[in-house]
Amino acid sequence: MIFRQLFDQTSGTYSYVLASRRGGEALIIDPVLEKVDRYLQLFRELDLRLVKAVDTHIHADHVTGLGALRDRTQCITVMGEQSRVDVVSMRVTEGDKVDIEGLSLDVLYTPGHTDDSYSFLLPDRVFTGDTLLIRGTGRTDFQNGDPRAQYESLFGKLLKLPDETMVFPAHDYKGDTVSTIGEEKAFNPRLRVKTVDEYVDLMNGLNLPNPKMMDVAVPANMRIGLHQDEVARRGWAIGAKDAMALVGCTDVVLVDLREPRERDKHGSIPGSLSAPYTDLRRNVCKGGMLHELGAATGKRLVFYCAFGERSAMAVQAAQDAGLTAARHIQGGLDAWRKADGPLVR
Ligand SMILES: [Fe+2]
Repeated sequence: MIFRQLFDQTSGTYSYVLASRRGGEALIIDPVLEKVDRYLQLFRELDLRLVKAVDTHIHADHVTGLGALRDRTQCITVMGEQSRVDVVSMRVTEGDKVDIEGLSLDVLYTPGHTDDSYSFLLPDRVFTGDTLLIRGTGRTDFQNGDPRAQYESLFGKLLKLPDETMVFPAHDYKGDTVSTIGEEKAFNPRLRVKTVDEYVDLMNGLNLPNPKMMDVAVPANMRIGLHQDEVARRGWAIGAKDAMALVGCTDVVLVDLREPRERDKHGSIPGSLSAPYTDLRRNVCKGGMLHELGAATGKRLVFYCAFGERSAMAVQAAQDAGLTAARHIQGGLDAWRKADGPLVR
């Protein structure tokens, strides 16, 4: 496995790059906007293709690199389903998995620092965001933080992992880089409490100043801009209600860009073809499956995904590849469901 821990000095943020091999797919956790050029350079040096960028929660101390990485690599952006952030193209929840080639991370919902805090688990290590830090825990006094929920996330989930599990947090201000669950159980002063009430009192008594960047970072992280507006301006978007008339049309292929796991969980539009977004570039270029389908049969490709983000990027890619009839369903399956569109499982 390729594993890199990268550091942003200004905010004390750790970002993590994961891949199973050189030349393969990569994933990044908690990227920082100012470091995006550095990440892209590293991907080139290691011959990696970024396919997913994940934020463990909405950050208050730095602007996320998710939007810039999406714009420059067309990667999928991943956050928890509670996040009120418009950049997200794949939303996950407890029990889901985040997959890339050769690696599969288990998704753990670990609220408390914020209500959208998640941890991501590999067999030997866990990425804890700001839920569990090295000899600390993330503050719980803003962004819908809740010390009671954090206690549950810590004692009910993270500390139940095997003692030897390595802990990689989103921050460290002392220069520590890694710990283990066993070490934190033994030496983390915040975890020496006997009851949940004791933990709540401890956290409520911290009286920390707000992060310097908070007033800038939180609003910036909430609105990283949808591609969907621009795609709609060009006339490449179809509303969910109008898209319903396309089901069963012989001159239209509905293309589902979501992953098999998302199809299984949420259902799909009847008669749609599965072509996951990570293979899109190959599929829409000349000789690719979707390109040939569109070119040979004259059928119109109509992309959809979960929220319309991946499909908006797909329309752009298809147009670039000469498939000028390509469209997408604005708002994705989410909008489709709200419009009472039929689903199959
Ligand atoms: Fe945070």
